[in-house]
Amino acid sequence: MKKIAAILLTILMTASLAACGNSGQEKNDASSAKTEEKTKISEQESEDSKTEELASGTETADVTDETENPNDAGGNEDAGGTNVLVAYFSATNTTKGVAEHISDSLGADLYEIVPQEPYTDDDLDYNDDNSRSTVEMNDPAARPAISGSVDNMDQYDIVFIGYPIWWGDAPRIVSTFVESYEFTGKTVVPFCTSGGSGMGSSASNLEKLTDGANWLSGDRLDGGSSREEIVDWVNGLGLDVTAK
Ligand SMILES: Cc1cc2nc3c(=O)[nH]c(=O)nc-3n(C[C@H](O)[C@H](O)[C@H](O)COP(=O)(O)O)c2cc1C
Repeated sequence: MKKIAAILLTILMTASLAACGNSGQEKNDASSAKTEEKTKISEQESEDSKTEELASGTETADVTDETENPNDAGGNEDAGGTNVLVAYFSATNTTKGVAEHISDSLGADLYEIVPQEPYTDDDLDYNDDNSRSTVEMNDPAARPAISGSVDNMDQYDIVFIGYPIWWGDAPRIVSTFVESYEFTGKTVVPFCTSGGSGMGSSASNLEKLTDGANWLSGDRLDGGSSREEIVDWVNGLGLDVTAK
């Protein structure tokens, strides 16, 4: 009888140990499933926060665009009371960024020299002898047409003129701009961006197209210049206006 009881006890203990073992396994399974779930959520959260960052970045960029590009809001027509104009031509937006820093820091009006016929990528191909830019730069008399004009150029005492260097010179459309207005008595500040070349004779060539203006020597500026760098540059020009 004792033997039978001992056998029954053994069977019972074995069964209960096996049950314990199973529940441990289940716990392990449940815990690894939870870990997986957490990983997924944290991945999702990090994706969400990335999306939020991107969204808020876009908002800031939009506001900045509106603030920094008065041309989008109807050119310099609405802006009055300033005697400084920042005029620029920019085929691929490098000079544009610099021009915006200058006008912003001075509270000056901004005017984009917009070609009547926009330059395509093919037009800008300097490896092609027959591209529009090459043909224009090979002809000092070329005067590509400009769309629109500066309202009341007379109100400005100081005119910044910015452009990219093309073949060591200012694009011919800048000559069109300079020849379209009377600069007598104005101070003109040329500036350019480039792939590395300096201003060369670009500014003196433009100066020859005007009469009675005081042309400062100007500078090549880095397309990636910060606003602070531009402020320092403007304030080093000796003008009677202060950039902030
Ligand atoms: C047709 C053409 C000619 C260029 N010639 C020169 C050059 O002679 N020297 C130079 O350093 N960069 C040259 N570049 C590069 C531009 O000056 C430079 O990328 C400039 O910052 C572009 O300004 P943007 O984006 O305002 O148009 C040339 C670019 C083009 C499209």
